[in-house]
Parts: sequence; C-alpha cells; structure tokens
Amino acid sequence: MSKLKQLNKTVAFIGAGNMAEALFAGFIASTLVPARRIIATDIRRERVQELKKQYGIIAGADNATAVQQADILFLAVKPQQIEAVLREIGPTVSARQVIVSIAAGVTTKFIQSFLKVRVPVIRLMPNTPALVRCGAIAMARGRHATPAHALMVRRLLETVGIVVDVQEKNINAVTALSGSGPAYVFYLCEAMQKAGVALGLSRAVAGLLARQTVFGSGVMLKTSSDDAAELRRKVTSPGGTTHAAISHFEDKQWCRTVTEALKCAQKRAQELSR
Ligand SMILES: NC(=O)c1ccc[n+]([C@@H]2O[C@H](COP(=O)([O-])OP(=O)(O)OC[C@H]3O[C@@H](n4cnc5c(N)ncnc54)[C@H](OP(=O)(O)O)[C@@H]3O)[C@@H](O)[C@H]2O)c1
Repeated sequence: MSKLKQLNKTVAFIGAGNMAEALFAGFIASTLVPARRIIATDIRRERVQELKKQYGIIAGADNATAVQQADILFLAVKPQQIEAVLREIGPTVSARQVIVSIAAGVTTKFIQSFLKVRVPVIRLMPNTPALVRCGAIAMARGRHATPAHALMVRRLLETVGIVVDVQEKNINAVTALSGSGPAYVFYLCEAMQKAGVALGLSRAVAGLLARQTVFGSGVMLKTSSDDAAELRRKVTSPGGTTHAAISHFEDKQWCRTVTEALKCAQKRAQELSR
C-alpha cells in the first residue's frame, strides 16, 4: 500500500471487534494514522491486549478516557450495544470531535439524541470485504457534519476500500446492495458449486472452479473499463453455451428476482432502524 501523509489525529475505537480491526489495520498500513495514535477499548480486555501486541495500538483504559483523548471517535459495537455506549459517553463528547458510527440501522438522529452539544456525526455502511481492504463503504453525514468532516473520514476509509457519499435516507438501499451484497455473491458461488456437482464434478473440483471464477470475474470487474453488462456480452456469443445458460436465467426473470430480494433486505433494514 502506498504511503500517505499523516492525518495528525487521534482515532479511538469503542468496540474492538472484526470491523474495528479491519479499519484501523488499513489506517496503520497506509501510514495515515500511526499505531500510537489509535486507541481501542472493548469489554473484552484480553481482545484489546491482543490487538495492542499485534499492531502497537494503545489499549484504552476505558471508554470515557478514550473519548477524552480522541479527535475522531469510531463507534464499532453491535447495534444492540450502541445505546449503552451512548448513555455512557454521550454527555462528554465535545463539538470539536467527530463521531463515526458503523452500527447498522442506527441513525445519526438517534446518536445525536445522546449528545449534549452539536457534534458532527457520520454514519457508515461498510461491508465485510473491508477485512481484505476491498470494502464498499457508503457514508452519510448527520446534521452537524460538514463536507470537510466527510473528507477527513473519507481519507481514512479509502485505505480499506472505495467510498461513496449518500444521503442518510438511502442508507437502507446501500445495506441491501453492498452491505448484504457479499452474501449474495457467496450464495451464487455456493449454487455454482452445487450445480457443478449435479453435472458430475467432484465437490472439491466444483468448489475450486466456482471460487476462482467468482474471484477472477471480480478482478475483471474492478480493473476493466467495461461495465458488468458489457463484460457479460463479451463472453456470450449468440447460440453458444453461455447464451444457453443466460437465456434460461432470463426466462426465470433473474434480474427481477434480484431486485425483489434487495427490496426484502431494504424493508428489513427499515424495520431494524432506529
Ligand atoms: N455491513 C456490514 O457488512 C458490516 C459488517 C461488519 C460490521 N458491521 C457493523 O459494524 C459493527 C461492529 O461489528 P463487528 O462484527 O466488528 O462486531 P463485534 O466483533 O461484536 O465487535 C464489537 C465489540 O464491541 C464490544 N463491546 C460491546 N459493548 C461494549 C461497550 N459498552 N464498550 C466497549 N466495547 C463493547 C463487544 O464485546 P462483546 O463481544 O463482549 O459484546 C465486541 O468485542 C456492528 O454495529 C455492525 O452493524 C457492518
């Protein structure tokens, strides 16, 4: 990863789970934030000690102390844990700090209701490929967050993937598309493996071929100037084998099924939102 000019900010993570680790590992590897300016806290003290040993970050004594020291504060606990965290730290966060929440379904308005002053709040919807620095991350600004705050957070996030700005009202659509999206791709891969077995291949061979096909196609999607439709057309000669399969998908209304599935995810995200 290329070296970036340091951000000169202290970044704290409340909750040091998988997503927190993915994010700060990217910040450190890019040199944007040195490990000595990253603080993590977690109910599981041993987890923070492990991360300290592995990355050289600071193991925060507790949430309140970490908040005092932070310029940028990531809320990286599970959605059901966020209220307890906000009750604890909300009154002490100041307007010079920036809160970045990755908790699914938790609105900036809900977060702001626990804060005493006008703190900039930015809400993210990352996805799990951020763990391998190939994330797709959407970012929505709360009421008091300015474009400058968003730009600073974007610089951090670009170390683990691509970043798009969305309005908060669209975050459930993002959840349905890219938040849950990796599971759809895994599901396709799983179905291709099962189909390979049904066609006579061994499970191991079918699995290897399916995984590598998804991986290689992903790399082509990322690196080609053609969009997905064009890439598909280029490997679909009229009357050929791919055409036979795609025609079957079309007969079964594949695109419509995908749209309907995403609508189900969006609806569920709305139901879970607060
Ligand atoms: N779109 C996506 O694909 C995606 C993917 C991953 C994550 N996310 C979001 O990212 C957030 C974190 O997910 P994760 O998978 O990293 O979760 P996680 O591994 O469970 O990490 C959260 C950590 O915070 C700790 N914690 C709980 N209450 C705390 C408190 N009061 N103070 C300090 N630490 C506390 C938890 O401890 P315990 O385990 O003891 O509770 C846990 O170690 C979630 O809100 C999720 O919605 C989104």
